[in-house]
Amino acid sequence: LTIQVNKPGAPIAKTMYGLFFEDINFAADGGLYPELVKNKSFEIQGQHFIGWNAIRGGAGLQTYTVVSDRPISATNNHFARLTAAQAGPDAGLVNEGFRGMGVKQGAEYTFSVYLRRGAGSVSGLRVALEEQGRPGSGPEAATSGRVLAETQLTGLTNEWKKYTVVLKPSATAARAQLKLTLDGAGTLDIDVVSLFPKDTYNKRENGLRTDLVQLLKDMNPGFLRFPGGCIVEGRTLSERYQWKESIGDLASRVPLVNRWNMEFKHRSTPDYYQSFGLGFFEYFQLSEDIGAEPVPILNVGMACQFNSSEMAPMSSAATGGSGPNAPAAAHNHAEDDPTLETFIQDALDLIEFANGPASSTWGAKRVAMGHAAPFNLKFIGIGNEQWGPQYLERYEPFMKAVKAKYPNINIVSSAGPSPDGELFTKATERLRELKAEVIDEHYYAKPEWFRQNVGRYDNYPTTGSKIFAGEYAAQSVAIGSPDNKNSWDCAISEAAFMTGLERNADKVIMASYAPLFAHVDAWQWTPDLIWFDNLKAYGTPNYYVQKMYSTNPGTTMLPVQRGAGAKNGAENLFSSATADDKTGEIIVKLVNYSPEARPVTLSLQGVKKLGKTGKATVLASNDLNAVNTLDQPQNVAPKNESFTVSSSNVTYTLAPNSFTVLRIPG
Ligand code: AHR
Repeated sequence: LTIQVNKPGAPIAKTMYGLFFEDINFAADGGLYPELVKNKSFEIQGQHFIGWNAIRGGAGLQTYTVVSDRPISATNNHFARLTAAQAGPDAGLVNEGFRGMGVKQGAEYTFSVYLRRGAGSVSGLRVALEEQGRPGSGPEAATSGRVLAETQLTGLTNEWKKYTVVLKPSATAARAQLKLTLDGAGTLDIDVVSLFPKDTYNKRENGLRTDLVQLLKDMNPGFLRFPGGCIVEGRTLSERYQWKESIGDLASRVPLVNRWNMEFKHRSTPDYYQSFGLGFFEYFQLSEDIGAEPVPILNVGMACQFNSSEMAPMSSAATGGSGPNAPAAAHNHAEDDPTLETFIQDALDLIEFANGPASSTWGAKRVAMGHAAPFNLKFIGIGNEQWGPQYLERYEPFMKAVKAKYPNINIVSSAGPSPDGELFTKATERLRELKAEVIDEHYYAKPEWFRQNVGRYDNYPTTGSKIFAGEYAAQSVAIGSPDNKNSWDCAISEAAFMTGLERNADKVIMASYAPLFAHVDAWQWTPDLIWFDNLKAYGTPNYYVQKMYSTNPGTTMLPVQRGAGAKNGAENLFSSATADDKTGEIIVKLVNYSPEARPVTLSLQGVKKLGKTGKATVLASNDLNAVNTLDQPQNVAPKNESFTVSSSNVTYTLAPNSFTVLRIPG
């Protein structure tokens, strides 16, 4: 292999390797967002007690109902009203958490609740964190387990009052539950029940799960794309993600059914709702915490095309704001009747929220939430994985309106789901004509597709629109199959493909694996980059591939030539190289997709200076079916070693079935 050190190519974009976050597989509630109480405000339309089970032992609890009589706020306008016929330990509610609650011995958890006393003589509320006896199901599951922490709230009043207390579990449990029982007979109103760990990333009050954020930060991501994925679109337009409903006062954020709330073979998640505790402000803050450019993706005015053909009319003038195309009544959220103008205005307001001064309407809201400095937003996406003429028709005025007001914002546009279909080709052609800045391509395909398509961008034009490989992952069985595995075969094939992205860094400026997270007990899509339960998390082999790229990006692409004009990938050897102008190193990425060890010689053409000892990071397994698990998180994990550099012809032997990053000192 000849590495043309003296013929440096394009700069590697700082955004080159990033993250795609979607609230799928319990990635937000039950995952990154560590609130332990599910449905804390009883606001889920038609299912106000999801996550809650009544305790009605003996003659204890007489009624439990949801009411909206003098609620705590106009948007949080339902709460639970409990009436106990007689005093006793058996009248109350249990919250099951997200497949249980993960709590750690000695750690501190802030419990808070709003209470209001009604008729009768209820004198207090007992709060107990206990191990789940048996999983709660149905409205009246009897549950009781070991008590891990408990407290008693007294001093009830006839008006809403917030109570806050810290609980410290006496033992670690992956499946705890929260039990609230009445002291005395009578009526008690309960709302906004929260149990939140104090240990959050950067110790933020409404912060995120530390181990999961750390896994992200360790990747040195160039960007964070959020909040999806199909959830941007919603199954219907009324179920779309509306960023404005995800900011401001926590207690007033109204939950929304998740696009991934579904029956899914043996892993149904009919209880999947978005609490918006992790909302757009928190996404921006997370981006800042992990050093990534925020890339919000906004709805273009179309519902998820896999579910519905519903789309917003182009303008209210054209349709009078209603008619056959008008969206259905909002589910659980403020009734709305959006036109394309609504979506465009939402985008303009988002840019103002992120970057505007305190004197602007939306900038003031950011400042009020505690972030005086702008978030310095540079990208927005218009539509997620949308296709067809209806998308392009909406995209064009959308893009023009954003550019007219914010010429420096880079727009990410969608080329649809299939990398090869006719719609995809037509969309790309039209987007290029419209001078789209960044085109988002998605590919979920078999591992061999990734190896065979390593040259995908070799003949792509170097001028005009750039590429964002916005969602990709090798599928071991079939796209979205529940039997897919995060196997080493998939990961090494992605590593091979990524040499093609890096070699074309003048055309590809962003890339992200998808999806990012999955809860082992509540997922709808596999494979995923990081898996977790309520206490632990692990990176898949695919995670380590991504991390090896994103922590070794280099700053300038270097051309790599093969002997006898062999193409990248010939004989299952894949390679790319970059120079790191900050450290003076040459970084070489090599994939040996073969069961034999393979010696390689790297001729560093025109190199001026060389150190003596190089650093190698090697990810390898003889078993292409190997996976990582919660119990064996390091089954396929990188190993570091050093190697000797004695001349400008560097020799190194690649392990069988390996992905290797060599850092050659300058
Ligand atoms: O990543 C899972 C889904 O795949 C995303 O929500 C969607 O954009 C794509 O179809």
